[in-house]
Amino acid sequence: MTPPLAIPSNSPRAVAASISPSSPQTLHDRLRKRDSITAIRQPKVLHPVDNEDLKLLILENISQDAVRAFQAHGFHTKIPQYHAIGIRSKTKITERVIKAAQKLLVIGCFCIGTNQVDLVTAGKAGIPVFNSPFSNSRSVAELVVSEMIALSRQLVERSHEMRQGIWNKQSKGCWEVRGKTLGIIGYGHIGSQLSVLAEALGMRVIFYDVINIMPLGSARQVNNLPTLLAEADFVTLHVPELPETINMIGPQELAQMKIGSYLINNARGRVVDIPALIEALQSNHLAGAAIDVYPQEPGSNGAPFDDQVNAWSSTLRSLSNVILTPHIGGSTEEAQRMIGEEVSLALSRYLNYGSTLGAVNFPEVDLRAITAEQGNHVRVCYVHSNQPGVLKQVNEVLSPYNVEKQYSDSKGDVAYLLADIADVSPQDVNKLREMINHTNANILTRLLA
Ligand code: NAI
Repeated sequence: MTPPLAIPSNSPRAVAASISPSSPQTLHDRLRKRDSITAIRQPKVLHPVDNEDLKLLILENISQDAVRAFQAHGFHTKIPQYHAIGIRSKTKITERVIKAAQKLLVIGCFCIGTNQVDLVTAGKAGIPVFNSPFSNSRSVAELVVSEMIALSRQLVERSHEMRQGIWNKQSKGCWEVRGKTLGIIGYGHIGSQLSVLAEALGMRVIFYDVINIMPLGSARQVNNLPTLLAEADFVTLHVPELPETINMIGPQELAQMKIGSYLINNARGRVVDIPALIEALQSNHLAGAAIDVYPQEPGSNGAPFDDQVNAWSSTLRSLSNVILTPHIGGSTEEAQRMIGEEVSLALSRYLNYGSTLGAVNFPEVDLRAITAEQGNHVRVCYVHSNQPGVLKQVNEVLSPYNVEKQYSDSKGDVAYLLADIADVSPQDVNKLREMINHTNANILTRLLA
């Protein structure tokens, strides 16, 4: 990690600490928190000193809110000579694309995942990639609430019967969720939201997570998975797909679940061993299940979900009291809008102010805004290789000037430094950029004023 230089009393270091990348907040939360603790005055809108208009390429039918947000920040969209690209999950940004896009400064993934982008090549080319990993947490949590009630009231079966013209009024095997125990596996963004909603329904909440987490409300963390499985009436999964979470619910774990309990998986398809789940449902050990994610998922709407996609598909579809949905946990208008707002904000803040808060492949660096009163200030955005001696070189270039604040960090091979320099004359700006560009670690330098 490249250490920061002299840190003034109004240091951004304290600010950076308070917005640590590991804190479980959205970019909006983190910026709001930062702004509230640094008493920012009216920020000045910065522009690249070469005065070239920044152009954005927006692909894959991204929310119009995002397009409007960019236009409000003064950017042109849908122009081929682009400095920024906005994509969703289907557009691949490969090494070849990155190398061909000579002017590209930043990539925005208006979705959760970033697998479609070659993150390492982008980082090495000085291009940060932003996404919106947590904008749909609430949508998933609400879906789980609806699934718990639907399963325990056998809603899907009753509705199916009515559509076939069958009247089958019954209460046997139908339950209220009030007073039942919900077991949450993975108490992150979604799991913790769900915890609050479930308690509001009068449920008892226990959770299992690999890290110790402060429980919300009256929820209780349990020490191990078997304890959760033995106590819960509803077990719901909210873990990422990792080598250790693949098939984390298999025959043994299903056998540890209470007779008549329910399993809900809105996390990732390979977290549950589905043939084992089918057996647990067929033997009536489980009273029902809701599945939103599958080991193999069809690539487009209208494509079949049959035994060629997953060998057990028709058996699973034939079981009663099983809710099957096509990976819609996070698919709401609200989530799409929040993704649009969050990613467009992150891209605009990078282009206008050099901030990489929320970038997935880049060191996260931010400085307080330059205010309108700070006349001839220039912000240096210096993306460079993470190699010994680089700060000495760049600070020799900056040393004749008044460096008001500076912060740098590194991630893997890429390091990033932001520095605000006071009283730089217009003649000096080009000289300064030339000299920084000639440091041997330089990847991409932008000057904003
Ligand atoms: P998160 O990263 O905020 O939380 C995940 C939690 O799981 C963390 O607290 C972590 O410590 C815990 N964890 C990791 N490994 C574990 C293990 N072996 N045992 C127990 N706990 C473990 O993630 P978030 O946002 O809550 O998402 C959870 C899952 O939901 C992810 O797999 C995500 O892909 C999926 N998801 C599905 C959606 C859908 O449409 N169905 C939409 C959004 C997310």
